[in-house]
Amino acid sequence: MRPLIAGNWKMHGTLREAVALAEAVQAGAAGLPADLLICPPFVHIPALAAMAGRTVALGAQDCHAAAKGAHTGDTSAAMLRDIGATHVILGHSERRADHGETDAVVQAKVKAALAAGLVPVVCVGETEAQRLAGEAEAVVRRQLAESLPDDFAGIIAYEPVWAIGTGRTPTEADIAAIHATIRDSLVARFGAAGQGTHILYGGSMKPGNAKAILALANVDGGLVGGASLVAADFLAIAAAA
Ligand code: G3H
Repeated sequence: MRPLIAGNWKMHGTLREAVALAEAVQAGAAGLPADLLICPPFVHIPALAAMAGRTVALGAQDCHAAAKGAHTGDTSAAMLRDIGATHVILGHSERRADHGETDAVVQAKVKAALAAGLVPVVCVGETEAQRLAGEAEAVVRRQLAESLPDDFAGIIAYEPVWAIGTGRTPTEADIAAIHATIRDSLVARFGAAGQGTHILYGGSMKPGNAKAILALANVDGGLVGGASLVAADFLAIAAAA
């Protein structure tokens, strides 16, 4: 399948910086061997959605599980769709840690995203303690089982928590093993659709390690944090796909 390189900008950037970064990514997008997705903070989505000639897909970093209601400070999936997002990252470990999001909450958000016509990018991944205890595959299997609804259609991102923003990555064999586990789980539950589901790797992906990681079986792209804030690095990762 054609790789997808997604940038999670997290909570970075003024409006001016976001527009400049998006324009630089857009300027380098033609001819790459991968599709591109950028996920800026909510507030920058309208400006980026209005960019002329945009070919880079646009996503958000979270949504609420409810369609509407008394949820101060939250944003619904339909609102995101309305302002031009097509994707939404859900269940990122920073949301799970900072906001206490459980697998059940993530599943409710995935359902809301699907109902609004957004493509969910569902994140799973073990902590360092879980990896050291030999529980990485079991954790990821459980997160998939409990975070995905039966009608799931979307993208999975494997992000070992201990590799996020640390400059550390699992070995290539360890990445391949978890991606094979994810593929097995998806195929067992969703059949052919599971075979065609993108499984992204995320966690300290950079131009220097992207080629080796993206060449692994069942690695269908990347979810890039820090390196997505530098257009040249983000584009170099996509060029390595
Ligand atoms: O969503 C992206 C990940 O959390 C990866 O972040 O590339 O800065 O390690 P990172």
